[in-house]
Amino acid sequence: MTDPFYITTPIYYVNAQPHLGHAYTTIAADVSCRYNFMEKKDVYFQTGTDEHGDKIERAARAEGLGVKEYVDKISGLFKDLWPELKIKYNYFIRTTDPSHIKLVRELLQRIYDAEDIYFHEYEGLYCFGCERFYAERELVNGKCPDHNREPELIKESNYFFRMSKYQDWLMDHIESTPDFIRPKRYKNEVLAFLREPLEDLCISRPKSRLKWGIPLPFDNDYVTYVWFDALINYISGLGYPDGDLFSKFWPAAQHIIAKDILKPHGIYWPIMLKAAGIDIYKHLNVHGYWNIDENKMSKSIGNVIEPLSLIEKYGIDSFRFFLMREMTFGLDSNFSEQSLIERINSDLANDLGNLFSRVLSMGHKYFSGIVPLIDMDAENSFHFSLEKEAIDAVEKFQGSMEEFAFHGGIAAIWGLIRRMNKYIDVTSPWELAKKKSAKKQLEIVIYNLLEGLRVVSGLIYPVMPDASVAMQKHLGLDADEVLKGKFNYIDELKKWNVIKPGTRLLKSIRLFPRIEN
Ligand code: MSP
Repeated sequence: MTDPFYITTPIYYVNAQPHLGHAYTTIAADVSCRYNFMEKKDVYFQTGTDEHGDKIERAARAEGLGVKEYVDKISGLFKDLWPELKIKYNYFIRTTDPSHIKLVRELLQRIYDAEDIYFHEYEGLYCFGCERFYAERELVNGKCPDHNREPELIKESNYFFRMSKYQDWLMDHIESTPDFIRPKRYKNEVLAFLREPLEDLCISRPKSRLKWGIPLPFDNDYVTYVWFDALINYISGLGYPDGDLFSKFWPAAQHIIAKDILKPHGIYWPIMLKAAGIDIYKHLNVHGYWNIDENKMSKSIGNVIEPLSLIEKYGIDSFRFFLMREMTFGLDSNFSEQSLIERINSDLANDLGNLFSRVLSMGHKYFSGIVPLIDMDAENSFHFSLEKEAIDAVEKFQGSMEEFAFHGGIAAIWGLIRRMNKYIDVTSPWELAKKKSAKKQLEIVIYNLLEGLRVVSGLIYPVMPDASVAMQKHLGLDADEVLKGKFNYIDELKKWNVIKPGTRLLKSIRLFPRIEN
């Protein structure tokens, strides 16, 4: 039986259009999904949109649209963008879907019946920008750190979720489950939160103040608020409690988020699941923030990067490659068009593109485009096999990809590419071609380079699916098998001498044109 793999992105608020940050997370989820496909896992990938709340109601009003009309429009922008970024999700969830709303209400009732939700009058400092209460210690000089505004003192009766009851349980779980939250810095951050007293979570808003939400099943004057609605998407999308999807994929659930929503995912969500009697997810994978020319990306600064214009200019594979290579998963990174161009020119056009066209051209020049048959005895005495280097690269790649260290996975591939470029310099095929007596050696060199390219073409598949297929077709590999995965499966990439002698190579192309500055 194949192992399941379930990956989710955050569901994005529809108060803004999709930008680079959303694109990064969703591409990362797609890359991990394609990688797990290569590991022959049964994969399921969910993304979607978060559509309730004040901010969204206000955004709709600002555009002069009805709220439903507005959320349909923006949700559609996200849904339509993902295929352009070569993102292949299985399911797109919206929190306004009736099946999602039904489940949120069921779980609220279940937790309320178990007395983990209670009613309480509360006075506190509320930031209207963040739509939440702040504790004094969270403020910076008395102001909300995100909006740089003093929050207002308001009094309200609301429903609260008894999180404090589960604090010790969660701490034990995180401490005893390696990699539950990764990379480690975020696990430590969550543990630090949990060492402080955990306040119960306000989960409702009076309808007099917020109408665009899901009504509480036990009090019609209130709607539920932000996280109690949004987080449940991860299981409502699988059809919990019925259906095969939930039983199959939930035990293998992995979330990807950025550090901004660590607390809801690392603390509220496992506790909500525990209180509802549902097993908790397997891993939370947390990445850092993209800054733009060293600044925070924001509408007010006017530096929001929209993915589509970049793709038109540089191509989707290059864009995906840059995002995955440039950001060390877990740390913040800086985006600039200049660094994108530099990476395309050096890593893609120079290192990989040149290698690919050099090898294919030599295949045509010395062997008329027909993969040569090599003499194994000669190969053993010549000691110029790339097999070990290729297998090492595949193993390093696997180790990194398992941990969501995409940058490390790519570095492993580029290690092999550089090795192959050096191999050409050392073996100097053009010299071998001058000597009749070196014919066998020339065959060995070209064949090894073709095999190396086959391995590289498979390894780049999760990040650059189009370039992967183009390379494989040029190597004469069966296009059908390529698309079905045969030449992209990790276990196939650990084999050597796979390309059949006699295979016809296609004429070389420029995989990645240089960008002139
Ligand atoms: N709706 C909530 C999430 C609910 S999930 C149950 C939300 N939405 S959001 O639209 O604000 O999206 C936040 C996410 O978008 C981040 O966690 C991250 O995945 C992505 N990013 C938004 N800006 C980003 C950067 N500048 N850099 C990297 N990723 C960022 O929070």
